[in-house]
Amino acid sequence: MLQSKTPFLDALKAEANSSQTPFYFPGHKRGQGIANPLKNWLGLEMFQGDLPELPQLDNLFQPQGPIKAAQQLAAAAFGAKQTWFLTNGSTAGVIAAILATCNPGDKVLLARNSHQCAIAGLILAAAEPVFIQPDYDPQWDMVLSVTPEALEAALKQHSDIKAVLVVSPTYHGICSDIAGLAACCHRHGIPLIVDEAHGAHLGFHPQFPASALQGDADLVVQSTHKSLTALSQGAMLHYQGDRISPDRIQAALPLVQSTSPNSLILASLDMARQQIATEGYQQLQNCVEMAQRLRSHLSQLPSVALSPHADDPSRLTLRIGQLTGYAADEQLTEHFGVICELPQLHHLTFALTIGDRPPDGDRLLNAISQLAQSAPIPSPLSSQDLSPIPPAIMTPRQAHFAPKKRLLFHNSPGEICGELICPYPPGIPILIPGERITETALIHLKETLAAGGVLTGCQDTSGEFLSVVDW
Ligand SMILES: Cc1ncc(COP(=O)(O)O)c(C=O)c1O
Repeated sequence: MLQSKTPFLDALKAEANSSQTPFYFPGHKRGQGIANPLKNWLGLEMFQGDLPELPQLDNLFQPQGPIKAAQQLAAAAFGAKQTWFLTNGSTAGVIAAILATCNPGDKVLLARNSHQCAIAGLILAAAEPVFIQPDYDPQWDMVLSVTPEALEAALKQHSDIKAVLVVSPTYHGICSDIAGLAACCHRHGIPLIVDEAHGAHLGFHPQFPASALQGDADLVVQSTHKSLTALSQGAMLHYQGDRISPDRIQAALPLVQSTSPNSLILASLDMARQQIATEGYQQLQNCVEMAQRLRSHLSQLPSVALSPHADDPSRLTLRIGQLTGYAADEQLTEHFGVICELPQLHHLTFALTIGDRPPDGDRLLNAISQLAQSAPIPSPLSSQDLSPIPPAIMTPRQAHFAPKKRLLFHNSPGEICGELICPYPPGIPILIPGERITETALIHLKETLAAGGVLTGCQDTSGEFLSVVDW
């Protein structure tokens, strides 16, 4: 019954509805000063709820009132010892997790498919990465999971690792054996951090994989705004066990979050938790049924190949004919108004959530069926190789702060990369600052750009020039 409560949302509503004359920020003064085009579009009410950390609304960094109560309810719902609300996405949570577990110079073991925010965490924490490559399916050009065996071997090889960070589920809905990874970390006396940005909904329905907290991970970061219903940037950081000091988490969070957290995001976190805790089972049941229906129809289309990898049934990755994921995405967007979550070179991924409704599924099915009608049967991918991890010459932090020069793309092999080279989405870097630029990495980059991929993290997003360390 407690889970039906929404203490922060209630406090915010009460405050927004109270009569007062605000001589405080935000300067729009409860919507009064908002320019009409925006006010007419979004309505006054939304701005009346955009309030600062008034005493009645608590303080995100020292919560004593409704934020504390809302976070406690979230901890109970997700199965954590303590939960922190984040208003700067999983990005802030992953960086804070690294800051809370590593001192400068400490080594952290990361899966190479980590999101770019993990690299930001390494730079800020002055931690040194040791990368391991997850398993890989060359027929689908898809990174799979990190196995406990691979982790055990890596930890035996590097006895000075202070924390392990894996991404589970991946963008494609592939989960690692978190219980196995956690047991392995704990045998070595170190914490397991799970970037569960894509898995806030896990653990609320038996047809979905167990959540990372259920698998005994120590620190778990979830983008509540991705697979649940919080506003963009709404995320949570959960902790359990006794391997990590909550004081260090508490000390890390103000380093990566604004002192003016958005109250609407906080309220949406409170509401999203209430929703999944009280209605989640039925809503996830609807979601899984839609996914099953789509899979069963799509599998009958000869020109559509469905990825066999999706521990999370709500992620649908497929190939249409011989189209690149980017080309298929362009056509689906242009002709059918159906937009996927993640287009990539060899496939595209659709994210289903509790927000989808049956007509959305029909529209997706119709669009793919029509596009597939004129498409040939997809031929199996010529076996792709997973690019080997480029050798690290400097730490990401050393390279980040080193003097740089710009070189033409084709003159850069052998140089030390001075920036993040990262197709977005999915935000998984091809090159990390400090790594030797290899021909293989450049071929990967070139293919991504030629097929219509978009780069982030680097100065020249056309890929013509790269910023390299000037040493
Ligand atoms: C695996 C992974 N981790 C972290 C993030 C960052 O999440 P957020 O957008 O909530 O900051 C993303 C974003 O796409 C992601 O895919």
